[in-house]
Amino acid sequence: METALDTAVRAVRPRKNGILAGLISVGLVTGTGVVVAADGSIHPELWPKVARALPVDRAMERRIDRLLASMTLEEKVGQVVQGDITAMTPDDVRKYRIGSVLAGGNSDPGAKYNAPPADWLALADAYYEASMDTSGGGKAIPIVFGIDAVHGQSNIVGATVFPHNIGLGAARDPALIREIGRVTAIETRATGMEWTFAPTVAVPQDDRWGRSYEGYSEQPQLVASYSAAMVEGLQGMPGKPGFLDGQHVISSVKHYVGDGGTDGGKDQGDNLSSEEVLRDVHAAGYPPAIAVGAQAVMTSFSSWQGIKLAAHEGLITEVLKKRMNFDGFVVTDWNAHGQVPGCSNDGCPAVIAAGIDMVMAPDTWKAVYESTLAAARSGELPMARLDDAVRRVLRVKFRLHLFDAGKPSQRPLGGKFDLLGAPDHRAIARQAVRESLVLLKNANHLLPLDPKRNVLVAGDGANDMGKQSGGWTLNWQGVGSTRADFPNGQTIWEGLDSAVRSAGGHAELAIDGRYTRKPDAAIVVFGEDPYAEFQGDIPTLWYKPGDDRDLELIKRLKAEGIPVVAVFLSGRPLWMNREINAADAFVAAWLPGSEGGGVADVLLAGSNGKPAHDFKGKLSFSWPRRADQYANNVGQADYSPQFAFGHGLTYGDDGNLAKLSEEPGVSAAMGRPGVYYARGVLTPGVTMRLQGATGAAADAPSLPAASADGSVKVRGVDHLAQEDARRIEWSGAGTATVSLQSDAAKDLVRETNGDVMLVLTLRVDSPAQGDVAIGVGCGPGCGATLPLADTLAGLAPAKWTTLGIPLKCFQAAGADMSKVDTVLTLKAKGPRQLSLSKVSLGAQGDAEKVMACALK
Ligand code: BGC
Ligand code: BGC
Repeated sequence: METALDTAVRAVRPRKNGILAGLISVGLVTGTGVVVAADGSIHPELWPKVARALPVDRAMERRIDRLLASMTLEEKVGQVVQGDITAMTPDDVRKYRIGSVLAGGNSDPGAKYNAPPADWLALADAYYEASMDTSGGGKAIPIVFGIDAVHGQSNIVGATVFPHNIGLGAARDPALIREIGRVTAIETRATGMEWTFAPTVAVPQDDRWGRSYEGYSEQPQLVASYSAAMVEGLQGMPGKPGFLDGQHVISSVKHYVGDGGTDGGKDQGDNLSSEEVLRDVHAAGYPPAIAVGAQAVMTSFSSWQGIKLAAHEGLITEVLKKRMNFDGFVVTDWNAHGQVPGCSNDGCPAVIAAGIDMVMAPDTWKAVYESTLAAARSGELPMARLDDAVRRVLRVKFRLHLFDAGKPSQRPLGGKFDLLGAPDHRAIARQAVRESLVLLKNANHLLPLDPKRNVLVAGDGANDMGKQSGGWTLNWQGVGSTRADFPNGQTIWEGLDSAVRSAGGHAELAIDGRYTRKPDAAIVVFGEDPYAEFQGDIPTLWYKPGDDRDLELIKRLKAEGIPVVAVFLSGRPLWMNREINAADAFVAAWLPGSEGGGVADVLLAGSNGKPAHDFKGKLSFSWPRRADQYANNVGQADYSPQFAFGHGLTYGDDGNLAKLSEEPGVSAAMGRPGVYYARGVLTPGVTMRLQGATGAAADAPSLPAASADGSVKVRGVDHLAQEDARRIEWSGAGTATVSLQSDAAKDLVRETNGDVMLVLTLRVDSPAQGDVAIGVGCGPGCGATLPLADTLAGLAPAKWTTLGIPLKCFQAAGADMSKVDTVLTLKAKGPRQLSLSKVSLGAQGDAEKVMACALK
């Protein structure tokens, strides 16, 4: 038998093709035989073996052989490339014989985030027909269309939106997960796609991670108990009728592997854990999913011990494909190939060499196609590997019966839009909401509330579908939607109102808590605003640092003698001890999705005075005791959370709680990521600097301030509160600059690639005169400025508005976004006056006006 040491030695032998040789280094084996691989080498024989989910289908493989043998090199390369609907047209598919298309989080037909389902289906038809059209030559190979149906077919108006995975984890109900998968598949098929980028089987260890809510649990066993159920729901069961038929979609188990264990909870970061922890914790969801026939796996943006997963031959080829017998295809994440050392977004044959079968190249598909073709021609990419990649893609297409499925609209569910948000689908989502609620406090048995009484519903989460649904809802960040975009759901308020009303009570909605009739009890619904991926990364577990309005609302109602139930919406457990102390009852509701009625089902008593549904939810993530308790997970030696994994009260329990410590462990100021100036305050670490037309630049620590020559002045003005904004006045005496300097250079590469913008809340105070430019800096001699005069001239004068400048614009103008130290410069000749009340990073939807610029 080969020893671990042999394997370690084998792993360092340079590969024949040479592409990866430089990435592989030596693994370590200790005297005890424990593998501590302190680098990228792995020991496949120590990983779980998985039995083949599906027997080898000889007839199908022969069909693939014949098809492969008839394909040109160009056609083969086309099959391993995936483009996005915003950047690849059906004509491109026809011409390049592309194998797959995706709709990214912000990609919609006609660029409308709320495009009607019929537009989606028409788009799916168009891609399919292009792929089958051989009028210009080539073979008819059906395209496979992927979308992030990660909590229901949540990109599409009217779909049932399920709770995000963190809430499902609290439900401890694999059978429910299977049902959710089944419904998601049906609704996805109705709109024309046959592939979802789900489930996420990350095992988040650091709750600062912006994707924590996409994980079911911090505990690997719980994740493992769900992953197969979800895959079965989505795909059907291998060997049983219905498997991968027109009612099902293929799943992509993601993000392989270790995405939930990056250092500091940094999205797309580096997972430094040992090989054993990688296997036993982070990979726990994969063997069960593969065992039930998961057809795709998506690699992670992140690295393991410094090596990007997209290029990790050991983990992809040796472990996943060989050891675990995974015979579907492996797809990369959004332009992740561009993050591999030595590669760019324009191509990375090394990832295919490492075992990737399809490259997600949303806007870069053409360059990736060309560079892959060139590498295959030169032999840099071995033909056997390319053939294997194509074989895997074709195998999945055959299994999905795509070759004879007809166009999406003609398939069994295509166009059946009444399935979106169908009553029985919504009932499952509502059950999921009920089961996900976790009760952390219930002093003096305040809950359940009597629906025959007078109930106030307050808080900015009470009547907001977008907020209760979170990221990956209608668009990537889940922001900017309206109530009308959810024709089928109920907000939490609507659910409460209808239940209270039918019980004969009275409910009042007052977001700010200013009721008209004094209530017997108040339900305050509040929480995190939607986010996705790295935009949700936070530096501490402090809830809304510098903004205590929710706490104040709870306290004010309490001071008026009203018992308060706090319903907290969030994508992760946060340090909430002050709010928990202030409220009489506290419910963690996670991100429940479209069926807000599930909250009323549990919080209100039935007609007999007893609750129809008790609390079932148990924490699947440990709840922190301090804002700096980032990564305290069940099973650790120093485990000391505020509420342990598995905790969750029921109505039978004593819900009184002694006052919790309000010692946060960190300062609130540490917690404002991507905000440079807001509410009159510069974020610690950010200073304002004035550079007059003449004289030296100088910091302006207090207001009012002026450059030595008086050519630029800044003073406090009011926007929403007293002096919460700054007016900048350029005298006209020459070109002068106001800038915001950051103590530490910021790496904004992820944000730049992800369409993040610099967002200014501003007001044009004087008619435009003279040149003005906006920019960022990145150290001596580094930076970019863009003309701003026309954009400002287009804004309504004397009115507050939000203006977004895509970070990509600064990059295209020459800034190095990996080391931004001047987060904003405004350079003008004047005379001109401009007020600013907020400077921050933001997403589409955060700005009323977006500056256009030429991108390379
Ligand atoms: C995310 C994936 C997602 C993909 C396609 C990426 O940015 O990391 O989870 O499936 O985009 O939208
Ligand atoms: C896309 C997402 C993707 C993200 C990656 C967004 O523009 O819409 O699908 O996950 O970029 O950074």
